[in-house]
Amino acid sequence: MVELDRNTILKQMGITQWVLQDAQAGENPAQDVPLSQAQPVLDKASVNEPPAKAGGDVKAIAQPAPGVTPVAPSQTAEPKLLSLESLRAEVAECVACALAKARTQTVFGEGPDQADWLFVGEAPGQQEDRQGQPFVGRAGGLFTQMIKALDKSREQVYIANTLKCRPPGNRDPLPDELQACEPFLLKQIQLLQPKVIVALGRISAQALLRSDQPLGRLRGQVYQYGPNQIPLIVTYHPAYLLRQPADKAKVWADLLLAHRQIPL
Ligand code: URA
Repeated sequence: MVELDRNTILKQMGITQWVLQDAQAGENPAQDVPLSQAQPVLDKASVNEPPAKAGGDVKAIAQPAPGVTPVAPSQTAEPKLLSLESLRAEVAECVACALAKARTQTVFGEGPDQADWLFVGEAPGQQEDRQGQPFVGRAGGLFTQMIKALDKSREQVYIANTLKCRPPGNRDPLPDELQACEPFLLKQIQLLQPKVIVALGRISAQALLRSDQPLGRLRGQVYQYGPNQIPLIVTYHPAYLLRQPADKAKVWADLLLAHRQIPL
């Protein structure tokens, strides 16, 4: 397959140009700018969008930031096993909620154990349920482009979901399903210890941050996740972007914010 360069990928994402911080828009063509210094050219609406409220209803999972309320640990029993592979096996046997009955298979997630980046989506769709891998359907195509725009391949990042089983008809996960599955994702994060977490979409963001704020309010800031204060960034879900391509520039801004959290 022909390797696409980042400009081509960004073009496919609907982003044709970005500029150095403090530079005039249009003066620095994309090809001259290293990723570490890149800034998206945002449309007016996204520049004017109110920043997410610091604190507010956002609750850190552990080590809450000042003004942030700690939350009680999940009521569901913690998975006990200690490696990602044993956790995968435990997930494959899970019957903790009704989704187990309808699934073809669980979708645990994939990527290297030492991945710097962890992307957390919502739940498997039809293709993911069939293939047992995350983000392999239509939204997955755009997701893969997003990764490539970061000069990464899918194989270099870890991809997981809030739910490990497909909700029928791709409906939103129910609260009891999220609660039953949460310990698996928390354990996954604990074992992976990525350098940055990107929550893709409202369901993932609200679950990880234990917030009921809308996605637009959760975007645009860096959260410190868990006892090791892993930076967490919220962005739109690729499936949403397929419906609202105009918001791709906002996603690119979020990805650059996430990129900046990784120590050089
Ligand atoms: N949407 C998600 O949130 N996750 C997947 O794995 C596929 C589609």
